[in-house]
Amino acid sequence: MSTAPVPELADRAAACADHLRDAGEVLLASHIDADGLTSAAVAATALERAGIEFEAVFKKQLDAHEIATIAATDYDTVLFTDFGSGQLDDIARHEEQGDFTPVVADHHRPADAETEYHLNPLLFGVDGASELSGAGAAYVLARALGGEANRDLAALAVVGAVGDMQASGGELHGANASIVREGCEAGVLREVTDLALYGRQTRALPKLLEYSSDVHIPGISNSESGSVGFLSDLDVDLKSGGEWRTWVDLTADERQTVASALVRRAVTRGVPAHKVEGLVGTTYTLSGEPEGTELRDASEFSTLLNATARYERADVGLAVCLGDRESALERARHLLTNHRRNLSEGLRWVQNEGITREDHLQWFDAGTHIRETIVGIVAGMAVGSDGVDRGVPIIAFASKSDEETKVSARGTPGLVRAGLDLSRVMGEASRAVGGKGGGHDVAAGATIPASREREFLGHADRIVGEQLG
Ligand code: C5P
Ligand code: C5P
Ligand code: ZN
Repeated sequence: MSTAPVPELADRAAACADHLRDAGEVLLASHIDADGLTSAAVAATALERAGIEFEAVFKKQLDAHEIATIAATDYDTVLFTDFGSGQLDDIARHEEQGDFTPVVADHHRPADAETEYHLNPLLFGVDGASELSGAGAAYVLARALGGEANRDLAALAVVGAVGDMQASGGELHGANASIVREGCEAGVLREVTDLALYGRQTRALPKLLEYSSDVHIPGISNSESGSVGFLSDLDVDLKSGGEWRTWVDLTADERQTVASALVRRAVTRGVPAHKVEGLVGTTYTLSGEPEGTELRDASEFSTLLNATARYERADVGLAVCLGDRESALERARHLLTNHRRNLSEGLRWVQNEGITREDHLQWFDAGTHIRETIVGIVAGMAVGSDGVDRGVPIIAFASKSDEETKVSARGTPGLVRAGLDLSRVMGEASRAVGGKGGGHDVAAGATIPASREREFLGHADRIVGEQLG
């Protein structure tokens, strides 16, 4: 697979797989977002198929305390997915003490320490922010454990990559693209060029257009009457049996009609060319899932998963990934309604309260108004929304507790090309105020002591200035 261009990654995966087989029993620890959940689901399925016993646990953030908790369990081998690389110094200390042997399948910027079973694209020249996700790393491991029989897991790996915004440039590429190819060959995925709006499977047509937040189309975005009016002028039936149709209910011709009209409208209303291009992109369909459900589309599936794990219900998301289409799916859908409301209220809060501009970055402090587990998503949505300067990164604060503040940072691929590395910014600025952080060049985070936000900002502003200067 992806490992053809990167044989070292496959070799490392094979060594990890051998160790897991010898261990016979492992503790699987993963992160609480869509990528973390799908990583765990891919790993869990591969372990089960290989006859390796396991127990799965999820952590909001893998810090020294959580690693110590893991070390206190009876497991001799711990498989970390979607985190672990950034915390390798702490993990390696426990390994030296003989607490456990770590196997790490991750894609975050590694700390300085090393360990034998460390599977991370960044160690082999593959970009962990855009070419392979945590679920992708878990997939490489799954392929090493079970060979071609595990190609069906490519669908979940793609949900993870899309959930980590690795397709935000329009499509997946690099090692991710090889995983897509394997999923297509295995019959679990389809790659289609289509309208790139969120909700093609489940949203009523007018809502699909009204809620298009990535590309603002004057007269349509945020306007129910505008969306209905626009659609009514086209030669397309909007309802069927009294119900609004969804995008996937339309015939290919009808989709073409709507997409072309939408592009025309965007162009005539002066939407910038790069935004208009973003209206159409590559979409990833899970062919084994029922049409018209969140599970059918990688992007909608990933949001459904974020709606569980980021609200302390990783068990629900994992069950859905593992095939529960009854009580877990129903529960997940309730959580999704709540998550969507939180995201739109969060974004509105940021728009009302405003964003403060420093020399080299911009920031907002949501306090307790936005949950710390979703403030990063809101920050990412804010960078994409109109009126927000895409020329500097955005930093968001949210309160974790009286003692601790969560920081989320988001940049753009253009800024990364210009030298921005937010994982370094978060790492260095948080260390300077007694906190800890890391992540990716384009998206990173930290935890810092409460009340030291200003000081943190000063450091971050200076470091970003150095990187972009
Ligand atoms: O912990 P993890 O790596 O899974 O988190 C990745 C986060 O970074 C996601 O929430 C995603 O929104 C963000 N990201 C991004 N743009 C990218 C890559 C990641 O906004 N190109
Ligand atoms: O939480 P958020 O989505 O903003 O996280 C963005 C990235 O920063 C993720 O990849 C996450 O794992 C990383 N992060 C970190 N240390 C923290 C918080 C976040 O490495 N304390
Ligand atoms: Zn990830």
